[in-house]
Amino acid sequence: MKLITTIIKPFKLEEVREALADIGVQGMTITEVKGFGRQKGHSELYRGAEYNVNFLPKVKIDIAVNDEQVEEIVHVIQHAAFTGKMGDGKIFIFELQHAVRIRTGELNDSAL
Ligand SMILES: Nc1ncnc2c1ncn2[C@@H]1O[C@H](COP(=O)(O)OP(=O)(O)OP(=O)(O)O)[C@@H](O)[C@H]1O
Ligand SMILES: [Mg+2]
Repeated sequence: MKLITTIIKPFKLEEVREALADIGVQGMTITEVKGFGRQKGHSELYRGAEYNVNFLPKVKIDIAVNDEQVEEIVHVIQHAAFTGKMGDGKIFIFELQHAVRIRTGELNDSAL
Protein backbone atom coordinates (compact mmCIF):
# COMPACT_ATOMS: atom_id res chain seq x y z
CA MET A 1 0.00 0.00 0.00
CA LYS A 2 0.98 3.59 -0.54
CA LEU A 3 -0.04 6.92 0.94
CA ILE A 4 -0.32 9.58 -1.72
CA THR A 5 -0.06 13.08 -0.29
CA THR A 6 -0.85 15.87 -2.69
CA ILE A 7 -0.66 19.63 -2.25
CA ILE A 8 -2.84 21.61 -4.65
CA LYS A 9 -4.33 25.01 -5.21
CA PRO A 10 -7.56 25.22 -3.19
CA PHE A 11 -9.75 26.12 -6.16
CA LYS A 12 -8.70 22.86 -7.83
CA LEU A 13 -10.05 20.69 -5.05
CA GLU A 14 -13.47 20.02 -6.56
CA GLU A 15 -12.01 19.12 -9.95
CA VAL A 16 -9.49 16.77 -8.38
CA ARG A 17 -12.13 15.19 -6.13
CA GLU A 18 -14.44 14.54 -9.08
CA ALA A 19 -11.67 13.11 -11.24
CA LEU A 20 -10.66 10.75 -8.42
CA ALA A 21 -14.25 9.68 -7.77
CA ASP A 22 -14.58 8.94 -11.50
CA ILE A 23 -11.77 6.38 -11.31
CA GLY A 24 -13.23 4.77 -8.19
CA VAL A 25 -11.15 6.21 -5.38
CA GLN A 26 -13.08 5.26 -2.25
CA GLY A 27 -11.77 7.63 0.34
CA MET A 28 -9.58 10.62 0.97
CA THR A 29 -8.76 13.11 3.68
CA ILE A 30 -8.25 16.77 3.02
CA THR A 31 -6.62 19.41 5.14
CA GLU A 32 -6.36 23.13 4.65
CA VAL A 33 -2.69 23.93 4.88
CA LYS A 34 -0.27 26.73 4.13
CA GLY A 35 3.02 26.40 2.38
CA PHE A 36 5.58 27.71 -0.01
CA GLY A 37 7.62 26.38 -2.87
CA ARG A 38 10.49 27.81 -4.81
CA GLN A 39 9.17 31.29 -5.45
CA LYS A 40 7.62 32.31 -2.20
CA GLY A 41 10.14 31.09 0.28
CA HIS A 42 12.24 34.06 -0.26
CA SER A 43 13.22 36.06 2.47
CA GLU A 44 12.63 39.64 2.98
CA LEU A 45 15.40 40.79 5.18
CA TYR A 46 14.02 42.64 8.13
CA ARG A 47 16.23 44.30 10.65
CA GLY A 48 19.16 42.32 9.48
CA ALA A 49 18.16 38.89 10.74
CA GLU A 50 14.45 38.24 10.70
CA TYR A 51 12.63 37.44 7.54
CA ASN A 52 9.12 36.89 6.38
CA VAL A 53 8.08 33.84 4.48
CA ASN A 54 4.84 34.07 2.57
CA PHE A 55 2.79 31.01 3.29
CA LEU A 56 0.06 30.58 0.73
CA PRO A 57 -3.16 28.66 1.35
CA LYS A 58 -3.11 25.18 -0.17
CA VAL A 59 -5.16 22.03 0.19
CA LYS A 60 -3.54 18.75 1.15
CA ILE A 61 -5.15 15.51 0.02
CA ASP A 62 -4.19 12.18 1.58
CA ILE A 63 -5.20 8.97 -0.18
CA ALA A 64 -4.32 5.46 0.96
CA VAL A 65 -4.33 3.04 -1.98
CA ASN A 66 -3.29 -0.36 -3.20
CA ASP A 67 0.00 -0.40 -5.06
CA GLU A 68 -1.70 -1.10 -8.41
CA GLN A 69 -3.75 2.10 -8.22
CA VAL A 70 -0.86 4.48 -7.67
CA GLU A 71 0.09 5.15 -11.24
CA GLU A 72 -3.43 5.96 -12.41
CA ILE A 73 -4.19 8.14 -9.41
CA VAL A 74 -1.02 10.16 -9.78
CA HIS A 75 -1.78 10.65 -13.46
CA VAL A 76 -5.34 11.80 -12.77
CA ILE A 77 -4.28 14.21 -10.03
CA GLN A 78 -1.55 15.64 -12.18
CA HIS A 79 -4.03 16.30 -14.97
CA ALA A 80 -6.84 17.69 -12.80
CA ALA A 81 -4.64 19.96 -10.67
CA PHE A 82 -2.65 21.37 -13.57
CA THR A 83 -2.86 25.03 -14.55
CA GLY A 84 0.66 25.39 -15.89
CA LYS A 85 1.30 28.35 -13.61
CA MET A 86 3.57 28.45 -10.61
CA GLY A 87 2.26 26.94 -7.41
CA ASP A 88 0.36 24.02 -8.97
CA GLY A 89 1.67 21.81 -6.20
CA LYS A 90 3.37 18.51 -5.57
CA ILE A 91 2.63 14.85 -5.11
CA PHE A 92 4.51 12.82 -2.51
CA ILE A 93 4.25 9.03 -2.26
CA PHE A 94 4.99 7.06 0.90
CA GLU A 95 5.11 3.38 1.73
CA LEU A 96 2.12 2.55 3.91
CA GLN A 97 2.72 -0.28 6.37
CA HIS A 98 -0.66 -0.99 7.93
CA ALA A 99 -4.30 -0.03 7.67
CA VAL A 100 -7.25 -1.00 9.86
CA ARG A 101 -10.93 -0.54 9.04
CA ILE A 102 -12.28 0.12 12.50
CA ARG A 103 -15.91 -1.03 12.01
CA THR A 104 -15.01 -4.44 10.57
CA GLY A 105 -11.51 -5.11 11.79
CA GLU A 106 -10.34 -5.65 8.22
CA LEU A 107 -6.66 -5.10 7.65
CA ASN A 108 -4.43 -3.60 4.99
CA ASP A 109 -5.61 -3.88 1.35
CA SER A 110 -9.11 -4.97 2.38
CA ALA A 111 -9.31 -2.11 4.87
CA LEU A 112 -8.93 0.64 2.27
N1 LIG B 1 9.89 20.57 -0.94
C1 LIG B 1 8.66 20.69 -0.44
N2 LIG B 1 8.36 20.10 0.73
C2 LIG B 1 7.13 20.20 1.26
N3 LIG B 1 6.13 20.87 0.69
C3 LIG B 1 6.38 21.47 -0.48
C4 LIG B 1 7.65 21.41 -1.10
N4 LIG B 1 7.59 22.11 -2.27
C5 LIG B 1 6.33 22.55 -2.36
N5 LIG B 1 5.61 22.18 -1.28
C6 LIG B 1 4.22 22.48 -1.01
O1 LIG B 1 3.54 22.58 -2.25
C7 LIG B 1 2.99 23.85 -2.41
C8 LIG B 1 3.09 24.26 -3.86
O2 LIG B 1 4.44 24.25 -4.25
P1 LIG B 1 4.83 24.79 -5.67
O3 LIG B 1 3.93 24.15 -6.68
O4 LIG B 1 4.86 26.27 -5.64
O5 LIG B 1 6.30 24.20 -5.82
P2 LIG B 1 7.49 24.81 -6.71
O6 LIG B 1 8.63 23.89 -6.54
O7 LIG B 1 7.67 26.24 -6.35
O8 LIG B 1 6.94 24.65 -8.20
P3 LIG B 1 6.50 25.82 -9.21
O9 LIG B 1 7.79 26.37 -9.76
O10 LIG B 1 5.66 25.14 -10.24
O11 LIG B 1 5.72 26.83 -8.42
C9 LIG B 1 3.75 24.73 -1.45
O12 LIG B 1 2.97 25.85 -1.04
C10 LIG B 1 4.01 23.79 -0.30
O13 LIG B 1 2.85 23.68 0.50
MG1 LIG C 1 6.14 27.59 -6.55
